[in-house]
Amino acid sequence: MTVVLDNTIKLTDEQVSYYRENGFVQVENMLTTEELEELRENLEEAMGVQGGRGVQTSGVGDLYYKVLNQRVNTWRDHGGMARFVLSKRFADAAKQLTGFSGVRLFHDHALFKMPRDSKPTPWHQDWPYWPMNETGAMSIWIALDDVDENNGCMMFVPKSQRVKNLKTIDLVNPEDIFSDEGASGVDRNMAAIVRLKAGSCTFHDGLTFHYAHANTTDRPRRALAIIYMADGTTYSGSNHVCTDGQGFEKGDVLRGGMFPKLA
Ligand code: SIN
Ligand code: NI
Repeated sequence: MTVVLDNTIKLTDEQVSYYRENGFVQVENMLTTEELEELRENLEEAMGVQGGRGVQTSGVGDLYYKVLNQRVNTWRDHGGMARFVLSKRFADAAKQLTGFSGVRLFHDHALFKMPRDSKPTPWHQDWPYWPMNETGAMSIWIALDDVDENNGCMMFVPKSQRVKNLKTIDLVNPEDIFSDEGASGVDRNMAAIVRLKAGSCTFHDGLTFHYAHANTTDRPRRALAIIYMADGTTYSGSNHVCTDGQGFEKGDVLRGGMFPKLA
């Protein structure tokens, strides 16, 4: 059966204020069992697409593949993925948490941590990779498998979203983000380990420090992340796989069919 995700879920005041204070929040049961099954099937199909519009950013044998087997913009290759990625339910939850007056898609990415020979996703912020002038863009990270410290669950440092102006971290040869002078107030010992049941999710601000454990099990850890930005967010001019070749000039509002308004 084909699922419909056009309903909205009212988050609690506690969830909204937790997100605004700490830069992340956990939300249980974002998907029903039936929706989860369908998303797993869609995502497996989308990961196998050859020559589509989505971008496979790592390949078997690459060092990066040990951190993440990642495919960006699955929604452009697979109608079923598009229904999840463009869904009102997730975007509306992002709107409630951020308080944005409108929410646009930046991109989705499938994030598989492959079995056994995998590496942790090092501590980093997401926003420095994004070609945006304004902060505030954020991600939903939906677990397609139960996750804990053995197979790649995430950790977040509460309140670290207040730290701006840091550089990108090389996810393969990472510098220690905590040793950056700008991160001096951030204590890695305060990090929250977020174990999730499949179908549950977290939302995190693009500036929140986060990490994911290696996957030491014999099954992939599958997750779908979708990045949302405030309607009106402008292009910084930096290179990014989703904006390169799209004709944007520095300062232009990120909009159009690649960046649809979802809520
Ligand atoms: C991961 O899924 O391992 C990392 C996700 C992220 O960095 O947002
Ligand atoms: Ni990240």
